[in-house]
Amino acid sequence: MSEVVTYNRDGSIGVITVNYPPVNALSHAVRSGLLAALEQGEQDADAKVLLVVCEGRTFIAGADIREFGKPMQEPGLPSVINRIEDASKPVVAAIHGTALGGGLEVALGCHYRVALASAKVGLPEVKLGLLPGAGGTQRLPRLAGAQKALEMITTGDFVAAGEALALGILDAVEDGSDIRAVGLAFAQQIADAGKPVRKVRELTDKIDADKGSDVFERFRAGLQQKARGLFAPFKCLDAVEAAFNLPFFDGLKRERELFMECMASPQRAGLIHAFFAEREASKVKGLAKDTPVRDVRSVGIIGAGTMGGGIAMNFANVGIPVILLEVKQDALDKGLAIIRRNYENSAKKGKLTQAQVEERMALITPSLAYEDFSQVDLVIEAVFENMAIKKEIFARLDEVCKPGAILASNTSTLDIDEIASATTRPQDVVGMHFFSPANVMKLLENVRGSQTSDEVKATVMDVAKKIRKVGVLVGNCYGFVGNRMLHQRGAEAMALVNEGATPQQVDKVLTDLGYPMGQFAMSDLAGIDVGYRIREERRKAGENVPASWMDKLAEQGRLGQKTQAGVYKYEEGSRKPIPDLEVEQLIAAFRQEQGITPREITDQEILERCMYVMINEGAKILEEGIADRSLDIDVVWIFGYGFPAYRGGPMFWADQIGLASILDTVKRFHDTLGGEQWKPAALLEQLVREGRKFGDL
Ligand code: 3HC
Repeated sequence: MSEVVTYNRDGSIGVITVNYPPVNALSHAVRSGLLAALEQGEQDADAKVLLVVCEGRTFIAGADIREFGKPMQEPGLPSVINRIEDASKPVVAAIHGTALGGGLEVALGCHYRVALASAKVGLPEVKLGLLPGAGGTQRLPRLAGAQKALEMITTGDFVAAGEALALGILDAVEDGSDIRAVGLAFAQQIADAGKPVRKVRELTDKIDADKGSDVFERFRAGLQQKARGLFAPFKCLDAVEAAFNLPFFDGLKRERELFMECMASPQRAGLIHAFFAEREASKVKGLAKDTPVRDVRSVGIIGAGTMGGGIAMNFANVGIPVILLEVKQDALDKGLAIIRRNYENSAKKGKLTQAQVEERMALITPSLAYEDFSQVDLVIEAVFENMAIKKEIFARLDEVCKPGAILASNTSTLDIDEIASATTRPQDVVGMHFFSPANVMKLLENVRGSQTSDEVKATVMDVAKKIRKVGVLVGNCYGFVGNRMLHQRGAEAMALVNEGATPQQVDKVLTDLGYPMGQFAMSDLAGIDVGYRIREERRKAGENVPASWMDKLAEQGRLGQKTQAGVYKYEEGSRKPIPDLEVEQLIAAFRQEQGITPREITDQEILERCMYVMINEGAKILEEGIADRSLDIDVVWIFGYGFPAYRGGPMFWADQIGLASILDTVKRFHDTLGGEQWKPAALLEQLVREGRKFGDL
């Protein structure tokens, strides 16, 4: 028998134990091991009831995703589960941790299910662009009914054990932490009561109750809104509906067909790439696994504005005390009031209790004195982008902070080495670039300076995990990875409008690609003055930054959502961008002033210019070692800028399109439009020459 699944007997219970770290995924060895152990248990005359239980941190967390895309090796999961359901003796699943995807499907194939109160169950396949393909769409509705099965399967959200019990997914929930003991006790009860095998596939009550209900149409309409552009949620719905329209085994067949359609979809490839990329990004290239990590038990934050306040919340949310520093009392009061309001809003939505709000507020101590930072383990500076001020602050931190404290800047563009030069400890200085709103956006772009120590790098990546962010370590350059690429896209979008496109046309191409908002809606959200100030600074520094119609907006005080007018106009209290005739006229006047005759611009040109300029820049970023791997860039864009995860990130997307065709287009733009941004990256040329992709690096 395979060593990852073992069989032994405990009294009258035959115990099938899965032990395949880290998450007991259903690899070929586990699937065949389960079959062999089941047969052994059936043949064991002294075993009255069989128990499936897992070692390690969790019950089976699903199919082994690493096997996807390779030839399937028998036995397939659906047949293993059918075989469990057909067992001659009752089979009990004992669940701890998370029973997910194929793992929950195995449990649904068992005849009874018991779980620890801390456990969770779910069918998250949709998040990987798939649907539950081993009977989950047919069995779950037989236990939980159409509404709940549709909710779980189309969102992929987990359900806590208590709720799963109430829904009928579980038969019992027990406190405690010893899953083997809990499972054995429950199985013994089944044996003592002489309970029969109970096949989920034979349960018909919930199917009969919901047959012909309008719930499917309601869900379909809802998905048109919520799952725009996605493939799998609609297939999930079709599969669940089949449970109500077809006999069980025909339903299983339909589920399989739909599963294979999802498996073949590019969205599945993109989402699975994103899944692994997120996890790989935390393993920094060149950083030894055993690099010591400093303990971060207290944090100081400078600046109680939107950014500083949001950053403070991240730490308070996980119980780490924060000292929040401002120069003036009123700024401090205002900042704290905003933090409180954010927490109160979460409480109103039922996400926090009032006691939790108070607990978190109590972890944030306001301060006006740098001396209060003398004992903190980490300081994050979050004042506005001005090098002179930042250097002053870091020099002050160098005086007051204890040795070994990490000094971080939340700068989104400035040179970390220059900031570090204001201190006597550049090895402890690092960038920690949060994304707005900092308490919501998942990305933490950690920036290494040339002297940042390995220990500090490892610590800031560890901090990202602790505060539940996705950390990516990148190199030091203007704008780092994210904003450096965004900057190119922004300049191109602006130029496209100069030449004849409308802002809404550009934005639509980007939202059609799957971004939650377009370039100009995003500028309005961030503030038109932000880009304006950056362009002005660069002009002052002697750079050739062409005049733009967006400068005119800023000069007229159209600063975006905050003034209810920017590239778009906004109704009172609404964030919905409305195209504005005044802006159209302003753009027309600007073109005239510049002697530009507007031309028709196709959506394809917009897509290529906005995206390929980013890809070319991404290639330069890789070439310079600012990002270690193309997956780091993908993660930055998915978690920091809402790039659609189902396209896997911009570099993965480029690989799918084909680098040769991208290079041809980049060269064409270089010839026709000119500009450094269109100069083909040497790495892009090299990869095309060698017939390789970014993902091969
Ligand atoms: N297959 C292969 N490897 C997996 C895996 C899976 N299903 N799930 C997790 N892993 C790996 C991760 O890549 C990671 O590997 P690494 O250490 O080399 O980076 C390791 O297990 C630990 O994972 P996490 O870092 O994510 O650990 P957490 O404790 O934070 O989370 C988890 C554990 C909640 C189980 C999370 O990993 C998860 O959500 N996994 C995916 C679950 C899922 O989507 N299951 C459905 C799979 S599709 C399916 O079952 C199809 C079926 O219907 C036919």
